[in-house]
Amino acid sequence: MLKTLREDGFDATAFERRDKVGGLWAYSENPEYTSALPSLAGFPYYMKQHHFQEFMQEYAENFNLLDHIVFNTTVRRAERNPENTKWLLDIVSGVDPVKTVGYDKVVFCHGYQTAAKIPNYPGQEQYTGTLIHAQRYRGPEEFQGKKIVVVGLSNTTSDVVPNLISVASQVYVSHRRGAIPAARLRKGTPGDLLITWRRRIINQWLMKAVPTLHRKLSDQIVNYAAKSFAGVPIDPAWRLQPYPSLTLRLPGMLEEVLPYLADGRLTSLHGIRRFVGMKSIEFEDGTVLDDVDAVIYCTGYKADWSAAPFVEMSTPTSHGYDGAPMHRLYMNLFPPQYADSCALLCYSAFGKNNGFSFSDVMSMAISNIWRGVSSDMIPNKPEMEHWIDERQEWVASRWALDNACDISMVRQWEFQPWLHEAAGTGMENLGWGWKGWRFWLQDRMMSNLMNHGVETAHMFRYFETGKRRTWAGAREAIIHQNRVVKETFPIETTKP
Ligand SMILES: Cc1cc2nc3c(=O)[nH]c(=O)nc-3n(C[C@H](O)[C@H](O)[C@H](O)COP(=O)(O)OP(=O)(O)OC[C@H]3O[C@@H](n4cnc5c(N)ncnc54)[C@H](O)[C@@H]3O)c2cc1C
Ligand SMILES: NC(=O)c1ccc[n+]([C@@H]2O[C@H](COP(=O)([O-])OP(=O)(O)OC[C@H]3O[C@@H](n4cnc5c(N)ncnc54)[C@H](OP(=O)(O)O)[C@@H]3O)[C@@H](O)[C@H]2O)c1
Repeated sequence: MLKTLREDGFDATAFERRDKVGGLWAYSENPEYTSALPSLAGFPYYMKQHHFQEFMQEYAENFNLLDHIVFNTTVRRAERNPENTKWLLDIVSGVDPVKTVGYDKVVFCHGYQTAAKIPNYPGQEQYTGTLIHAQRYRGPEEFQGKKIVVVGLSNTTSDVVPNLISVASQVYVSHRRGAIPAARLRKGTPGDLLITWRRRIINQWLMKAVPTLHRKLSDQIVNYAAKSFAGVPIDPAWRLQPYPSLTLRLPGMLEEVLPYLADGRLTSLHGIRRFVGMKSIEFEDGTVLDDVDAVIYCTGYKADWSAAPFVEMSTPTSHGYDGAPMHRLYMNLFPPQYADSCALLCYSAFGKNNGFSFSDVMSMAISNIWRGVSSDMIPNKPEMEHWIDERQEWVASRWALDNACDISMVRQWEFQPWLHEAAGTGMENLGWGWKGWRFWLQDRMMSNLMNHGVETAHMFRYFETGKRRTWAGAREAIIHQNRVVKETFPIETTKP
């Protein structure tokens, strides 16, 4: 965001409570900061924590961003000045007193996984063992020889369980329902290579036109593909099935957990019903486990909205919704009353393109809207409020199908085209309209690579639209990336 805003001529400054760039990829000993852990095993073809941190450091240096970041500084709260002309930010650095600084515009890029989601079970207060959320987990040392229950069965569980298994006396995983046995690699090939731009567009069209059929089809495909992703025979006693719908929740990567379930070093337990006594836990099937030394909640994260108390909230009334209130943001980004000066990236917009390139597109969209290049993408306030009400009703309808669904989800078929149009990425040149046909006729190879090949962020800097900077190296990078993938992996990913 900082890079895009500065590139577009804004005099932008970032405040970061850590002492380096990289967000949660910049490892921190502070147990209150969500942190990717350096100690975890890496996967072939995937970056480890330090790779990403180093990349972000180089990126910041390359684009001269470091001088515009105020490190070790926490933004406590933002609010409008009494004249309603500026944003006032309360900032804190170390032991210094709180300082107030003024800005014309503010973007909250402080993560959507900064606050731990911690369940509260009956009797939990009488438990005398170690009870932590994975946010505080920094390594297996303190769990040597311990009997441990890990709660939740998703990505963080996959990080924590293999890390614990060789030191703990026994590890259990408690999960209240099924989980898709997703894996990064399928037959040695990264699963994300299956996602191409064209398949994403078809998927979005199905979501919009035939939502029920789309959900059923997705669920069928998951049922069919699960076995080949699992890598080990799935024992019904693990209760992975019925799988939650892929259209309602993102699955965790479980390839590192399932082998331990299969060899008996990890035991699957039902969800927790209550804590009984100082070290005993009762599960939903009535099983009681005694002498539990530690419970680690791998139950996920949420955004910390405390610095933005001005964002309004509401609760949809349809579909029997009785979940948490939702923040009112147009396109999950802009509070309607301050759309010309405030954006918040606190909602994950579930189902997005891969995270990092998505952030780039989102940054271009916000910057373009504010500098007047795409200001027409923001309607008037009543229309924004109407959009928010409709979106909330839609989320409620999804919530009725699965009350653990991600309430930050957006209707991808409208959100993605909106975002790309605001960002000016020129993705309409890959569609079925006349621009798509024209591009195909002019440059069939690139049209095919971009539609059917590796989905790479270079595409978003390829077309000249006059709305944002293109990158001269984009064409070569797209060709190179597709060539590398084709030579490295056995499956056909591009059309000739
Ligand atoms: C353990 C873990 C692993 C993940 N792995 C992947 C993955 O493999 N692939 C993927 O696409 N996504 C992954 N994600 C999702 C992850 O959220 C994104 O990868 C990405 O880090 C989000 O970037 P961000 O800049 O929005 O937020 P963050 O990376 O969370 O960065 C937010 C920054 O804001 C700072 N901050 C927070 N509050 C304040 C404040 N009040 N004042 C000042 N500074 C503040 C924080 O210190 C932090 O540096 C993972 C998430 C977790 C939790
Ligand atoms: N290496 C990686 O790629 C990596 C590693 C770690 C994290 N991450 C990212 O970080 C984010 C968080 O991952 P995560 O694994 O921490 O969380 P998550 O994906 O949200 O999964 C949370 C798990 O906890 C369960 N759960 C939630 N609330 C519960 C409750 N009250 N009681 C019992 N169980 C509960 C969920 O079960 P239900 O299905 O029943 O809700 C689910 O199994 C994700 O975006 C993930 O992609 C990525």
